[in-house]
Amino acid sequence: MYIDEYSDKVKDHFFHPKHNGKLEDADGMGKVGNPKCGDVMELFIKVEDNKISEIKFQTFGCATAIASTDALCELAKGMTLEDAEKISKQDIVDYLGGMPAIKVHCSILGEEALREAIKDYRSKGKT
Ligand code: FES
Repeated sequence: MYIDEYSDKVKDHFFHPKHNGKLEDADGMGKVGNPKCGDVMELFIKVEDNKISEIKFQTFGCATAIASTDALCELAKGMTLEDAEKISKQDIVDYLGGMPAIKVHCSILGEEALREAIKDYRSKGKT
């Protein structure tokens, strides 16, 4: 896999992620592992008026996992919980201007972690 196989947008989200880190006072947290590679993703959300007001992630995943989850955060921020949980890996790939097919599975990590974070938030009875 060569870096030239990635779009400029993927490279930008990998080299300059805006949402990398942890939210200490998160309203919801999701943690998932990728069965294909064993990498782990943690994603944190803060919710105001049923919308995602802040979102961050941390992962030991690959460059594609970092770029695609950062892109997911960009898409999800400001969305209602119902809309955010509908974001698919295809939405992420489209937003990033494509991705090598062999790496699409890496974008599932963030997508699943977001759904878990929303589930965690709802389990606390805040909705
Ligand atoms: Fe594990 Fe990409 S290789 S998330």
